[in-house]
Amino acid sequence: MTEALTDIELTVEKGDIFGVIGHSGAGKSTLLRCVNLLERPTSGKVVVNGKEMTALREKELQQERRRIGMIFQHFNLLSTATVTDNIAFPLKLAKWRAPQIKERVDELLELVGLRDHAAKYPSQLSGGQKQRVGIARALATNPDVLLCDEATSALDPQTTQSILQLLQDINEKLGITILLITHEMHVIRSICNRVAVMDGGRIVERGDVLDVFLKPQHPVTREFVGQVSERPDGGFASARHDGTVLRIQFVGESTYEPVLYEVVRETDATFAILQGTVSRMKNTPYGQLLVELRGTSGDTDRIVRRLRERGVDVEVMS
Ligand SMILES: Nc1ncnc2c1ncn2[C@@H]1O[C@H](COP(=O)(O)OP(=O)(O)O)[C@@H](O)[C@H]1O
Ligand SMILES: [Mg+2]
Repeated sequence: MTEALTDIELTVEKGDIFGVIGHSGAGKSTLLRCVNLLERPTSGKVVVNGKEMTALREKELQQERRRIGMIFQHFNLLSTATVTDNIAFPLKLAKWRAPQIKERVDELLELVGLRDHAAKYPSQLSGGQKQRVGIARALATNPDVLLCDEATSALDPQTTQSILQLLQDINEKLGITILLITHEMHVIRSICNRVAVMDGGRIVERGDVLDVFLKPQHPVTREFVGQVSERPDGGFASARHDGTVLRIQFVGESTYEPVLYEVVRETDATFAILQGTVSRMKNTPYGQLLVELRGTSGDTDRIVRRLRERGVDVEVMS
């Protein structure tokens, strides 16, 4: 028997967009399937919405599963049913009446932007539209939680962005908690507030996305962060520089303030920017600069101290 998951202890807070990242085979899908008990863990507890899922009888479990929606990499739509019928499917299972089903399906079509495609079959839709059907179907019974298994991995970059935007809107407007798994760090950076990194069936690192991005600890995390980071590399530090090389990280609004300029101006030192980037993480701007300071050691120390006092993360490279 394969032990797919080991020592998993994970809490997702209400309202989170929680991302789990890992390579293929790390155990991500198994973890996600344990949440709605498509996969039953051999030991331990799963609690969703305060209900201990692992202790429920089959009938209660089916009831609770309606509060947990799920979407998939390959959409898993019924190819012989129209968009409308795909979305209506879980409502029929839940024994809703026809007029209520129609009303709810119309709402969902509007929500995911597929009003004009209601009568089409999946084969007539683009990948992004298929995933929108998947999302509408997953939200049909008004779940509190949405599980996303590599929901954008089969989509091109532009379509991926539009689906991620839809997920973020759903989280913000409907208050739905999202647990998503992916092997792409840019997905985490775009919409998640929390992240866990999996490797070999274990969670090897976790935290606020910003913290994990700026201070990755585990080698696997560093590798994933490296996928999207324009982080200036150490090559500059080993090249010959007369002054002191600083690596500076800005987070939040200070990204756009001329903090560095103000602090250096208080001394007789000068500076040159060797490399710099500004990016966004969800809604937070952040930037990284590699700077060479030229001045006395007293000035340099003062500049480093003053930057740190103003909440800027500074690393002295040489
Ligand atoms: N039904 C199964 N039977 C046997 N092994 C499985 C099954 N599903 C997954 N595994 C194994 O469990 C591990 C984790 O798989 P999975 O959760 O699918 O990883 P991921 O989604 O991160 O790629 C892998 O080693 C995989 O081969
Ligand atoms: Mg998987």
